[in-house]
Amino acid sequence: MSTAVYLVFLLGLAFRGGYGYANNSNHRLLAVLNASSSTVDLVLQINVLEGKRSPATTEITPPMSLKDIIRAEINGDWERGHFVLQLASQTRTVQLKQAIYEALWQELQQMRQIYDPLKVLDLYGQLTQQPQMPSALLVQVYQEFVDRSAHLLAAPFHTDSRSARFPKVDSLLQRLTLSTLDYLRDILEEVFNLVLALESSLSVVQRLGNFTGSVTQLALANLQLLQRTELKSNVDAQAAVHDNLRQLLELPTFEQEVGRNLREEVYEQLPLDEKILYTAQKICLRNMTNHNSYIYECPQTYLICTNERDPKKASYYVQRGNGGANNTLQFAFYSSYWRNRYILMEPSNHSTGDYITKNVYSRDSIFWWQVVQLAGGGVALYDAATAGSILCGGDPKHWDGEERHVYTRSSLELENYRRECIWKVEDCSDVTK
Ligand SMILES: *[C@@H]1O[C@H](CO)[C@@H](O)[C@H](O)[C@H]1NC(C)=O
Ligand SMILES: *[C@@H]1O[C@H](CO)[C@@H](O)[C@H](O)[C@H]1NC(C)=O
Ligand SMILES: *[C@@H]1O[C@H](CO)[C@@H](O)[C@H](O)[C@H]1NC(C)=O
Ligand SMILES: *[C@@H]1O[C@H](CO)[C@@H](O)[C@H](O)[C@H]1NC(C)=O
Ligand SMILES: *[C@@H]1O[C@H](CO)[C@@H](O)[C@H](O)[C@H]1NC(C)=O
Ligand SMILES: *[C@@H]1O[C@H](CO)[C@@H](O)[C@H](O)[C@H]1NC(C)=O
Repeated sequence: MSTAVYLVFLLGLAFRGGYGYANNSNHRLLAVLNASSSTVDLVLQINVLEGKRSPATTEITPPMSLKDIIRAEINGDWERGHFVLQLASQTRTVQLKQAIYEALWQELQQMRQIYDPLKVLDLYGQLTQQPQMPSALLVQVYQEFVDRSAHLLAAPFHTDSRSARFPKVDSLLQRLTLSTLDYLRDILEEVFNLVLALESSLSVVQRLGNFTGSVTQLALANLQLLQRTELKSNVDAQAAVHDNLRQLLELPTFEQEVGRNLREEVYEQLPLDEKILYTAQKICLRNMTNHNSYIYECPQTYLICTNERDPKKASYYVQRGNGGANNTLQFAFYSSYWRNRYILMEPSNHSTGDYITKNVYSRDSIFWWQVVQLAGGGVALYDAATAGSILCGGDPKHWDGEERHVYTRSSLELENYRRECIWKVEDCSDVTK
């Protein structure tokens, strides 16, 4: 009897009636494997011997292949794969370890459980911890995880109902928040391969807008979708992605939750004024067409004026918050020159009517503005609390000598006074106080 046959014979003994007793069988299996000086032989011959009963062994027990041993060890319970990995990590030769990993993966594929990407992810996590993992196997398991995840995530894109729930999708996304974003990146690439082949780009974008996931995941997904060639010439779909991104941007948690790099990628998608508003350390607000007309404190009073260019006086720090009637994103402008002073609007009754009110001051209490980017460039500044007033300026009729006061109008008048009520946001970060 060769050494290998002898060992297999022993293994058979070790496992006889011992299924499911992990402690025990692990121990004996390992002992046998450890005792062998030629484990390579063992592995190589185990499969050859499978099913062949030599007359001498018939009465006692059939020889078992590595596959059988692992099947017995797993015994229909996915969780027990963990024990097999422990076992493998304790074996002495690389070849045996790797044979065990391969056989384990084969066995787990036999069990339908690999349809659950979370299980494959857990296994992948465990495998990456193992010493001397064959990289081809790791790649294979990872790819399986990505494929299974992508199929799951694709389901909502093929569903018309916006109210349908997908608890498995939710729990996958939830679990993925614990992993590197690279996993999600790979999955999304495949999701988009799957869904853009069957659905219109616009519907994919809109459906993504209804996804539940972390802000970070949704930001990543929208940015990634925007890069797809399918969207390159589709203006509507691109605009819809921008809408999705803006919704995310306006969430109170956006700045806190989303990592810096990803946040900057989102800001990069914004029109210039808004981008500056989000990224610049200090900004200036100036007339759209007149490069010599900036908002800051008037020369003689505490009102706000449009004054000649003086970047020191015109530069403001931007504070961001959420609030107002609709809990929208809002901004406060804090002077970097006159410390403690904000651009503040006193309350007024600007619900309707074509008239102006001079109620904008440089004051030491915070005041929130809602900044609305306009198509074609420039922003409108609404009082965030009611959105009833907009900030305007530039009409000499409302000035007083050197004092070129700004003023407010009803926000309903924006269309009639665009020249007066649209402002350019300029990056004034470089200005030293
Ligand atoms: C080993 O067996 C004991 C009881 O016999 C059990 O409590 C323990 O969980 C087992 N360990 C493993 C790794 O199966
Ligand atoms: C098998 O050998 C390895 C390395 O020599 C050792 O760490 C392990 O404890 C041994 N296992 C058993 C069950 O003897
Ligand atoms: C889903 O998206 C549509 C537009 O794409 C929107 O009208 C609807 O309110 C969204 N539903 C939810 C629950 O977010
Ligand atoms: C606005 O109008 C209402 C009723 O017309 C009045 O009670 C209120 O005092 C006015 N507020 C201001 C700030 O003028
Ligand atoms: C809040 O939303 C409603 C409906 O979209 C809108 O009419 C209203 O002007 C908004 N209010 C503010 C302060 O933005
Ligand atoms: C900008 O300047 C023009 C004239 O130079 C003026 O008509 C317009 O009202 C000004 N707009 C603002 C927002 O100050």
